[in-house]
Amino acid sequence: MMRVAILISGGGSNMLALADSMTGAHPARPVLVLSNKPDAGGLEKAAARGIATACVDHRPFRGDRPAFEAALHDRLVQAAPDLICLAGFMRVLTENFVEAWAGRMLNIHPSLLPKYRGLDTHARAIAAGDSEAGCTVHEVTPALDDGPVLGQARVPIRTDETPETLAARVLVQEHRLYPAVVARVATGDRRRIDL
Ligand code: GRF
Repeated sequence: MMRVAILISGGGSNMLALADSMTGAHPARPVLVLSNKPDAGGLEKAAARGIATACVDHRPFRGDRPAFEAALHDRLVQAAPDLICLAGFMRVLTENFVEAWAGRMLNIHPSLLPKYRGLDTHARAIAAGDSEAGCTVHEVTPALDDGPVLGQARVPIRTDETPETLAARVLVQEHRLYPAVVARVATGDRRRIDL
């Protein structure tokens, strides 16, 4: 059984989609939901599902990333995950941390990478006049939003689109794509999925 730790910073809708998919004959189970924010709504939702939760608050570290990441690393090692899923985790991780979990960390990003790394992806896609947007699950490497793509889902951009309406429709696809990729990765299969 593959052990999965899920890192969040906010409401955790992707975390829930992942956790709810890992039941029955699924070859993985969530063993920890970890946040850098004590008030992240997803912590309570995970606890309500009986999943262990923890918080390593980044604020007391006052920008000392190595110290924050050392605490994050130690908490993860306690849970001994085989796979880490970043799900709305909004801290940029350093090369040292990423290398320590190389090949065992995935992220979901709300754009069709390599387009629109970083923030405000939907506003940028609309402003560029793109006909479609979407989301990507990729392996985490030291460069931000850059690792090998394991899955993508496409969403057409409508003429009357706003970043909010697009984000809502992309999020629906995120909740399909991330569980599909993790289910495949949990069987040792890293072939790409396109929804
Ligand atoms: C998602 O759109 C994800 O792609 C992005 O942050 C958002 C988090 O949403 N990185 P949630 O916390 O999973 O609801």
